[in-house]
Amino acid sequence: MQRMNSSNNIVLSVEGLKKYFPVRRGFLQKVFGWIRAVDGVDFDIEKGKTLGLVGESGCGKSTASRLILKLLEPDEGKIVFQGRDISRFSQKQMKPLRKEMQVIFQDPYGSLNPRMTAGESIEEGLRASGVGDRGERKNRVEELLEMVGIAASSADRYPHEFSGGQRQRIGIARALSVEPSLIICDEPVSALDVSIQAQVINLIKELQTRLGLSYLFIAHDLNVVGYVSDTVAVMYLGHIMEYAPADELYENPLHPYTLALLSAVPVPEPDHRRELKTLSGDVPSPLDPPPGCRFQGRCSLVEDRCRKEEIGFYHASEKHRVRCWKVI
Ligand SMILES: Nc1ncnc2c1ncn2[C@@H]1O[C@H](COP(=O)(O)OP(=O)(O)OP(=O)(O)O)[C@@H](O)[C@H]1O
Ligand code: SF4
Ligand SMILES: [Mg+2]
Repeated sequence: MQRMNSSNNIVLSVEGLKKYFPVRRGFLQKVFGWIRAVDGVDFDIEKGKTLGLVGESGCGKSTASRLILKLLEPDEGKIVFQGRDISRFSQKQMKPLRKEMQVIFQDPYGSLNPRMTAGESIEEGLRASGVGDRGERKNRVEELLEMVGIAASSADRYPHEFSGGQRQRIGIARALSVEPSLIICDEPVSALDVSIQAQVINLIKELQTRLGLSYLFIAHDLNVVGYVSDTVAVMYLGHIMEYAPADELYENPLHPYTLALLSAVPVPEPDHRRELKTLSGDVPSPLDPPPGCRFQGRCSLVEDRCRKEEIGFYHASEKHRVRCWKVI
């Protein structure tokens, strides 16, 4: 595939990434099918920028992030992080890189140890990466808490003493403690009250500007993704369906799936209301999908060709590509 950006300003580059999970049945646990969770995914994340990865539940977003973090081994494809191909790196080779890539999870309660105070949770990361003595670490913990909008005096409190939004802030402080260059935000606000979501998203954006962080921002809500991202990748059943700069995707969305996702996003001015193309039915299973376009079963534009041949990418512009032959 033609790369969109050949500059060395890329912090992470993923090419042809694949992960299939076997589905086993019966006494002998024979493999009877494969879940094509991530099926040939390509994207780049530029330094200091955000790539938004959006799609419905089960489309492969978290699997893609676990492959990047090398918590799962890819079946195929290349992962280049800070100029190094880490696709085949062992756990030992990954160890010095671990602090460079941090994760913020959806469930801030589950990701914090309930028996550790906020300060201890943050300090753990500092200690693991050999930061300073006890006093220096204490100062750094206080600095990090204040950076995410939590009073330094709260360092001795336990996770259950904080609200969901505050716990997510502590999770962010912990991720920041080791000074990473890339943060994977996997649905970081989905579990929070709507009233708190904007505050946490704004904090994530502010920290990016302040610290020059790069993000892979995963969500199922195109509204949230569009707000935080420079570039958006729309994913469906293991495939990227559309990939474009965020503003271009909003001005000229092309893929029928992107249009369906956008129709679920409220548009403030009634005159600009997009034609409603609601998604019908559940997301089909990624278990042994039929040949052709993955979206064929839900697409109002489907034709014979979509069922017969693999659909590749078509370019709407240099930086805008779409996996559909009918819309270009
Ligand atoms: N370890 C595993 N073994 C078998 N199947 C798996 C495994 N991990 C994920 N899957 C399957 O792979 C597909 C993609 O899952 P994944 O968790 O990546 O989706 P997701 O896009 O993150 O969804 P969500 O929005 O619900 O978090 C799903 O069908 C899931 O059931
Ligand atoms: S390739 Fe065919 S089925 Fe797929 S999105 Fe385009 S028109 Fe719809
Ligand atoms: Mg997920």
